Amino acid sequence: MLEWDDAPASSAAKPDPRLLAQQSAPVSAPRSAPAAVVASAPNPGVAGATGLEDLTMGAGRIHVDDKKIINCRADLNQLVPFKYKWAWEKYLAACNNHWMPQEVGMSADIALWNDPKGLTEDERMIIKRSLGFFSTADSLVANNLVLAVYKHITNPECRQYILRQAFEEAIHTHAYQYIIESLGLDEAEVFNMYREVPSIHDKAAWSLPYTQSLADENFHTGTPENDQRLLRDMIAFYVVFEGIFFYVGFVQLLSFGRRNKMVGASEQIQYIMRDEAMHMNFGIDVINQIKIENPHLWTAEFQEEARKMIVEATELEIRYAHDTMPRGVLGLNASMFNEYMQYIANRRCNQIGLKEIYPGAENPFPWMSEVIDLKKEKNFFETRVTEYQTGGALSWD
Ligand SMILES: [Fe+2]
Ligand SMILES: [Fe+2]
Repeated sequence: MLEWDDAPASSAAKPDPRLLAQQSAPVSAPRSAPAAVVASAPNPGVAGATGLEDLTMGAGRIHVDDKKIINCRADLNQLVPFKYKWAWEKYLAACNNHWMPQEVGMSADIALWNDPKGLTEDERMIIKRSLGFFSTADSLVANNLVLAVYKHITNPECRQYILRQAFEEAIHTHAYQYIIESLGLDEAEVFNMYREVPSIHDKAAWSLPYTQSLADENFHTGTPENDQRLLRDMIAFYVVFEGIFFYVGFVQLLSFGRRNKMVGASEQIQYIMRDEAMHMNFGIDVINQIKIENPHLWTAEFQEEARKMIVEATELEIRYAHDTMPRGVLGLNASMFNEYMQYIANRRCNQIGLKEIYPGAENPFPWMSEVIDLKKEKNFFETRVTEYQTGGALSWD
């Protein structure tokens, strides 16, 4: 059976390298010199292009086999011909899943939050800590995408998806702000938790060196060492941040909705989780495609390093679970997350072709697999705030 995070809405590539290879468009015989190669790159000696180079009149047209995920020299402003159809399909699926926070009504949540007997102190702490983590986490992810990753991914269809993803991260930050504002929480307290609550700080602080390494303006891919730095950043953000660090919060917040509490916040988390599953799957497809095109980067030493990153992240996430849930609440207790995070860590290892770290770990929350099957339209028509009109519904007559 497919697990939900294996099954994004598109028929996109799975991490199996053989499948990845099949889903790339057929590649003809290697060409000695890519067409439409930029003649005068602004950074001579830099292996990759950026898309901002001067145009050369009369340069040959690009061909599918000119395209590469990293260190490509072909024109980056021409979306077609597609080579990585899985990236384009994910872009289309993400657009089909478009949603906006204001479309979800918050009145039941506000009434419950303001009722002194509506929630226990432990439940309130989970809500506040989750918002504290997520409200800055999505911003960190967006900044990594825009300031560190985008420039070094030298493929237009992948960039098209990354642009869509960056907008979705903005929507997620918007959603958290919308919940914080609706509930009348202390905004400064929530947005500063990543500086003031150790278990939240530690996750953000773990990820930052990876993006800082790439954001250096003198950093360029094109050497094995630097290409591995890019891969390391992609593992840190796509596999760990979006694939491990979000999961205690997802389970906790969805557990409210399952008990008919904080239903507006819980519904938004469902949409966010669906988006995040696709972000992660896109990142995993890109990582696996980079491996196919650059097998020399995936050394035994590098694999060991990647596994170590996943071990560190799993331990941080388990610590976060214990910190946010000192006592059992909502049918959950912190120790259930020990095994859950080990199970998730094994899945992430499998998805990028690493050996499992915690053999035999099982999923104590099988219901998480079903949440992704949420039908957006049904839910939206049931709960939509009537005064709010989406751009898509405006009349242009
Ligand atoms: Fe996000
Ligand atoms: Fe994301």
